[in-house]
Amino acid sequence: MFNTITAKIPMNPILKLISILLTTFCYLSLSSHSISAQEINLFSQNLNDLNEKPIDKMSDNILGNDIRLTLRSLAQKHNFFIGSAVNVKALRKDFLYRDRLSREFNIITAENAMKFKRLHPKPKSFDFSRTDYLMAFASANKMQVRGHTLVWHNALPDWLKEGDWTRDELIDILENHIKTVVGRYRGRIIAWDVVNEAVADDGTLRNSFWLERIGPEYIEMAFRWAYEADPNALLIYNDYGAEGLNRKSDAIYRLIKSLVANNVPIHGIGLQMHIQVDSPPNVQDVAKNMSRFTNLGLQVHITEMDVRIKKPSLVSDFQQQAKIYRDILRTCLLAEKCNTFVTWGFSDRYSWIPKHFKGWGDALLLNKNYQAKPAYYKLLKELADYQKQ
Ligand code: XIL
Repeated sequence: MFNTITAKIPMNPILKLISILLTTFCYLSLSSHSISAQEINLFSQNLNDLNEKPIDKMSDNILGNDIRLTLRSLAQKHNFFIGSAVNVKALRKDFLYRDRLSREFNIITAENAMKFKRLHPKPKSFDFSRTDYLMAFASANKMQVRGHTLVWHNALPDWLKEGDWTRDELIDILENHIKTVVGRYRGRIIAWDVVNEAVADDGTLRNSFWLERIGPEYIEMAFRWAYEADPNALLIYNDYGAEGLNRKSDAIYRLIKSLVANNVPIHGIGLQMHIQVDSPPNVQDVAKNMSRFTNLGLQVHITEMDVRIKKPSLVSDFQQQAKIYRDILRTCLLAEKCNTFVTWGFSDRYSWIPKHFKGWGDALLLNKNYQAKPAYYKLLKELADYQKQ
């Protein structure tokens, strides 16, 4: 309607000039916003596509084209760390994996390569081949690295679990392990998940190999040894199921409070954030949980986020998943001391979910063909819209 009217009325040249100037001005002011009009069109175009086609038929691979905005470039503007866990096998052999990883993220965590079993396969020998490779990739691409993890009840080698060790011998083994690993990468790992999953769902200390064989002091010892080996790394306690307010997060809060009171070098809590699309934690609770740790003087990292969907996945699941990712990123951005948001992988091509949670999948930001899902765009937009207070 508007077009037909303007087409019929001949335009005075001065008016025409003013109109061109106005249009240019509007365009420039839009494009100087954190996200350009062209990109917003691409977002909605892609979301529309999703409504019409199953996820694996999405044809436009926006990430692969010439769009300059990435999670990484937007995060960088706020000195924010956005990251992913890394599968070293994929990193070695899959070009698209390397490309997307280095383009989209500025921090990485080894998904398995830094676990005890991989690094320390025999009592007297360490294998740093995978981790050295990962560190070299990070440094070539100017990415930070989170270390994961020094003390965990899983991924322990048989020689350790089955050996007939005295308590003192085990203390020596753990001290040597921590100091060797942390020492090797001293100054190059920004944060270490020193102790992982030490608390059970009922709030008691997990009845693990380390608790049974050393006693509850193993937690404090681990932090002190890590600190001796790298006094500049952030030392983190990391766990799952303690994102919101519940028995487990209360217990972790009490544990960490007592560590802080005893001058144990601990600098943050990692909230893993492995969640189900149909039962995410309440975001207000997550915010309250974050702020009680912050009040102890600690940082909060989101360390392993994924949002699993019960197969077959519906379009509405992907939309709900996107909202959950967005809500958690927003909660972190708005929290006083949350500057790190890491997902547990970034493409459904390599995700631990289908193997560990039968019947579930599609938990990450990109699909198996590296095409962006709604969750990716929601995070991109959240970072683009975020203005530091
Ligand atoms: C998982 C890996 O993703 C799997 O490949 C491996 O088989 C088991 O461990 N919490 C953690 C991570 O701290 O180290 C776990 O990673 C997922 C749960």
